[in-house]
Amino acid sequence: MIIKVLGSAAGGGFPQWNCNCRNCVSVRAGTPGFKARTQSSLAVSRDGENWALFNASPDLRQQLNLTPELWADPKRDHRHSPIKAVVLTNGDVDHIAGLINLREAQAFSVYGTERVLTTIADNSLFHILAEPLVPRITLALNKPTPLSGAGVDLGLTVEAFAVPGKVALYLEDASAGDDFGTQEGDTIGLKVTDTASQHSFFYIPGCSTIDDPLGTRLKGASIVFFDGTLFTDDEMLQQGLMPKTGTRMGHINMSGPEGSIAAFSKLGVGRLIYVHINNSNPALDENSSARKSIESAGWEVGYDGLEVRL
Ligand code: MLT
Ligand code: MN
Ligand code: ZN
Repeated sequence: MIIKVLGSAAGGGFPQWNCNCRNCVSVRAGTPGFKARTQSSLAVSRDGENWALFNASPDLRQQLNLTPELWADPKRDHRHSPIKAVVLTNGDVDHIAGLINLREAQAFSVYGTERVLTTIADNSLFHILAEPLVPRITLALNKPTPLSGAGVDLGLTVEAFAVPGKVALYLEDASAGDDFGTQEGDTIGLKVTDTASQHSFFYIPGCSTIDDPLGTRLKGASIVFFDGTLFTDDEMLQQGLMPKTGTRMGHINMSGPEGSIAAFSKLGVGRLIYVHINNSNPALDENSSARKSIESAGWEVGYDGLEVRL
């Protein structure tokens, strides 16, 4: 199985268009140790020929242009794409807006929970991806779903499971109390398995806390791509960027006793890779103490183009 990180940044990307935080200024200036990143997405394939996207980011067109494996094959028909399926982990703008880049009457399948597929069905812009050419397939929770699309079996299964999190920002219901109307299926993690080899990895780009059921599920996993939005819960407030904590946004932070580094330290995971990294995160600076502390805890900081084979 081949896993390619198409985009390793959180919503807004790195740099974010309207941001003058230290990181965004530094990456625009070309300062050594700062790498630009596009928004959150993976591409996965068993055979290197047929691919599934995990989330479709607003930067998808740029990501495709930088990834030859995902180009139309000139030996095929006038119209062709290696992308046979798109699997969505929530309804965030950074995870669904890129579907619009996949218009032009090409067949592929879209997988998501009922909650996320309803969001797409309710937004008429996405009707440009018309069924039956682009079927929507509901992911049931806690059972494996085989991936296929355009008549091709991808040789991969995904098991979707609910993770603690929050409904997408634009769907928040302020009258619904502390959880903003969040329901099960608004944010999922995925266990992705190569059906032939039975090798698997986890993909969890959004998660607010690692509770006991999630910890149990991830124990001993070979690879986990995990929510690396923030280093500290209040870093956006501290930097004067936005009056929101990670807790309020539905994202766990990396550091501290409640952070993901501490939670994973007991889980015996083979390889830990942060993705969905916000531009405010000090660990984006390769020379920072935040980056050193992550790496000495055994984590990798995902970057666009990172390829993993298993
Ligand atoms: C998030 O991950 O919290 C969202 O992508 C935020 C956003 O939509 O800007
Ligand atoms: Mn996001
Ligand atoms: Zn910034």
